[in-house]
Amino acid sequence: MESGRIALVTGGNRGLGWATARALARRGLGVIITYRGDAREAEETVKNVQETGAAAAALRLDVSDVASFPAFVSDLAAQLERWDATRLDVLVNNAGVGLFGSLESVTVDDYDTMMDTNVRGTFFLIQALAPVLADGGRIINVSSSLTRHTSAGTSVYSASKAAVEVLTRTLAVELGPRKIRVNAVAPGPTATDFNGGAMRDDARLREGLSAQTALGRVGEPQEIGDAIAALVSEDLRWVTAQRLEVSGGALL
Ligand SMILES: NC(=O)c1ccc[n+]([C@@H]2O[C@H](COP(=O)([O-])OP(=O)(O)OC[C@H]3O[C@@H](n4cnc5c(N)ncnc54)[C@H](OP(=O)(O)O)[C@@H]3O)[C@@H](O)[C@H]2O)c1
Repeated sequence: MESGRIALVTGGNRGLGWATARALARRGLGVIITYRGDAREAEETVKNVQETGAAAAALRLDVSDVASFPAFVSDLAAQLERWDATRLDVLVNNAGVGLFGSLESVTVDDYDTMMDTNVRGTFFLIQALAPVLADGGRIINVSSSLTRHTSAGTSVYSASKAAVEVLTRTLAVELGPRKIRVNAVAPGPTATDFNGGAMRDDARLREGLSAQTALGRVGEPQEIGDAIAALVSEDLRWVTAQRLEVSGGALL
């Protein structure tokens, strides 16, 4: 059903982006992942994705560097041309950063890094790629369950993801005439490198979070990737401007 479609996943070199790239590829989409620094890691991911039988490629992109977006759009166009394509069908804005700390400890640099990456990067990448996105395409923005529940030390990160959710709803209205669906996926605590790998490696934190989650554990990256792939699919073609929380029922 999805064969011939092409998806771009930002921050696809590891974590949830990696799992999303694999989930989309398993459903027959060609996948372009972006990576920020480690070209060798990105090439490994490309090989992983190709193992599913799908086409895959990697392009370098720092989403906080908005001035680099015109050059990135040219790189993307060249990659699409290599696949005899001119359009993207799916954009997953996954790249993001969380720098957690109390009111007193958050620095201006921390604040700017989170806002520049999570909000500014997401908005201007959508702006840059909207002309390349096919009519009828889909955009998924990765938010967080922290926009619904509250923990001390997460204020700026949660605010950045709340902004992502508002962008999602507003851009769903603006891009609706082109039949582009725009939705947000809000993962709960998931075992990746995120926050220093705490949700994966800190047994006490995992235990505490598991006890606060209806399904009794933290999430695995594949569970977020599969949810994003489901939201992209034709089965959910009438869904736009929504926030899908994928958290196993965290902090209900
Ligand atoms: N894991 C969780 O518990 C959780 C929960 C809720 C929401 N999320 C969200 O899910 C998304 C993915 O997180 P994750 O768990 O996969 O975290 P992760 O393992 O730390 O991976 C983060 C990804 O984002 C990329 N990235 C960060 N800043 C970037 C920038 N300026 N330009 C380009 N790429 C950048 C990283 O690239 P590099 O490899 O170059 O650093 C990496 O690919 C994020 O938006 C995060 O906020 C995660």
